[in-house]
Amino acid sequence: MSDPILTVADLRVSYGRVEAVRGVSFEAARGSLVTLVGANGAGKSSVINAVSGMLRPAGGRITFEGADITRTPAHKLVARGLVQVPEGRQILATLTIDENLRMGAWHAGGTAQSTIDAMYDRFPVLAERRALPAGSLSGGEQQMLAIARALVARPTVMLMDEPSMGLAPKIVDEVFRVIEEIRASGTTVVLVEQNARRALRAADHGYVLQSGAVVRSGPAAELLADERIVEAYLGVDGGSARRGGPPE
Ligand SMILES: Nc1ncnc2c1ncn2[C@@H]1O[C@H](COP(=O)(O)OP(=O)(O)O)[C@@H](O)[C@H]1O
Ligand SMILES: [Mg+2]
Repeated sequence: MSDPILTVADLRVSYGRVEAVRGVSFEAARGSLVTLVGANGAGKSSVINAVSGMLRPAGGRITFEGADITRTPAHKLVARGLVQVPEGRQILATLTIDENLRMGAWHAGGTAQSTIDAMYDRFPVLAERRALPAGSLSGGEQQMLAIARALVARPTVMLMDEPSMGLAPKIVDEVFRVIEEIRASGTTVVLVEQNARRALRAADHGYVLQSGAVVRSGPAAELLADERIVEAYLGVDGGSARRGGPPE
């Protein structure tokens, strides 16, 4: 790949004796949108949490902007521009929307007020309700807040874990529109999704995970065009993703 901003080589993650990730490798070209897709339990969150420094890998090597970050803790990575939007949004429900955005800024080591104001311009629904508890927002609005909170850290790489989970189709459209805008602004996006078709439609490059390993990878359009891949590994859109073996 010409200019990878992020490289993951032979990554391993274990929980006690459970080997959740068994030697996953992938890379993201600068400015691209890469997706890791796979059924529930495939190891997607474990990969993304290891990359963001939220959990310590059992093995492998992670390189960001040419530097080894395999054991760099999350808060240091945020300050360097590698920022995660976690699974399940993880907004602070009792704090106001404004406080949540300030927390995002604080984690990034300080952000100008103008950066927070830019989020209010971009997400008017957050501006209108900035003084309300974040828990009063709908699921879709909470996802926008989680994305805005990550953006105030001015990421060069944004890791997103199942941003469409649990949202109504119309809201999923909105979330994907925002993801594509983020990518268009020059930020590299690593998107983890169970909603494989949708994610592959938005992505440049895709990696299919099954049981902690990459079983297929390639240009997203090629993976999408191969119905056998979608059927065998990814289940149906937004529904009961089933685990399956390779097509025969
Ligand atoms: N904290 C944990 N403790 C033990 N096992 C875990 C933990 N988190 C995830 N796992 C296991 O690791 C595997 C991969 O999980 P995960 O990375 O969450 O997959 P995905 O995000 O693709 O659904 C699953 O078998 C899951 O049960
Ligand atoms: Mg997950």
